Amino acid sequence: MYLANENRYEKMLYKRVGKSGLKLPAISLGLWHNFGDVDKLSNQQAILRAAFDNGITHFDLANNYGPPAGSAETNFGRLFKEDFSSYRDEIIISSKAGYYMWPGPYGEWGSKKNIIASCDQSLQRMQLDYVDIFYHHRPDPDTPLEETAHALDLLVKQGKALYVGVSNYSPEQTAAIAKLFKEWHTPFIIHQPQYNMFNRSIEEGLTDVLAKEGLGAIVFSPLAQGLLTNRYLNGVPEDSRAHRSDSPFLSEDRVEATLTKVRRLNDVASARNQTLAEMALAWNLRLPEIASVLIGASRVSQLEDNLKALDNLAFTAAELAEIDQILQ
Ligand SMILES: NC(=O)c1ccc[n+]([C@@H]2O[C@H](COP(=O)([O-])OP(=O)(O)OC[C@H]3O[C@@H](n4cnc5c(N)ncnc54)[C@H](OP(=O)(O)O)[C@@H]3O)[C@@H](O)[C@H]2O)c1
Repeated sequence: MYLANENRYEKMLYKRVGKSGLKLPAISLGLWHNFGDVDKLSNQQAILRAAFDNGITHFDLANNYGPPAGSAETNFGRLFKEDFSSYRDEIIISSKAGYYMWPGPYGEWGSKKNIIASCDQSLQRMQLDYVDIFYHHRPDPDTPLEETAHALDLLVKQGKALYVGVSNYSPEQTAAIAKLFKEWHTPFIIHQPQYNMFNRSIEEGLTDVLAKEGLGAIVFSPLAQGLLTNRYLNGVPEDSRAHRSDSPFLSEDRVEATLTKVRRLNDVASARNQTLAEMALAWNLRLPEIASVLIGASRVSQLEDNLKALDNLAFTAAELAEIDQILQ
């Protein structure tokens, strides 16, 4: 039987999500990759245990994580039941609806029909009564924003979600949905955008909206799917995401195209006595709107490396300028 490390809350930093009462660990764990049926269940269990033992109290899922889609939630549900049921009140679990899940007009996007059905399916797969945060995963160009917002609001009223969030919404879409939720007193507290050294688009308007609306961000792919680590410094390993055929968003060409910058960033990290992964996470956490960086890990050792980011979160002006210059 798994017993969590008694010292799990000693080292982690917990940050408030915007102006809400919810605090998230500065480093959260996402189950997009490495938790599908194609991945070893014993490794999944080891990663989840190591995470919680180190104060990672937040696990992020979505209906479509796998592969196959849905299997990450099913596997998480099994492992959660086995190891973490007695810790339910210490853990924040999120899921999302929006990407393709089932055939026909109701299996994706942002209609009320899709969101309510998808949340019910996610709860069933994870064997949970409720999720802590439920997100709309991507903006829907066809469904009125009011309808999507109503669906999220209903999930809260039904007790199926404590808080709601959006992901991949533009600054304008975020401001528009925030206005509705404010009128209805819906606990909309969080945005989940991508942010890392190679994708700084949230600095162009979104962080301003979040600050103005009192919302927080949890940023995904903070390591640019592994590019901002030492994973590819000496080639593309066979077991890496860039090499796997089931990861269409990271190619060997992309590794090649970023390598010169990655090597220079790695030198900056070494001068700070950090790995590149540690520095990349610390760099993300410098923005006050970011409550948490949402990492992925294919093995426990990566998780342990990433947690060391918290040992040095401070940057000198000279270091920040050097990083900016490399990223130009
Ligand atoms: N809302 C959305 O639309 C959206 C989209 C994408 C992701 N997300 C969320 O964000 C989470 C994280 O995304 P991500 O997996 O792309 O994050 P990431 O942290 O940028 O990348 C994780 C990958 O980087 C490599 N890695 C991590 N730590 C390492 C280390 N210390 N040294 C060497 N390599 C390391 C591993 O790749 P290898 O597999 O090669 O070992 C790992 O699988 C997802 O699980 C999901 O919850 C949300």
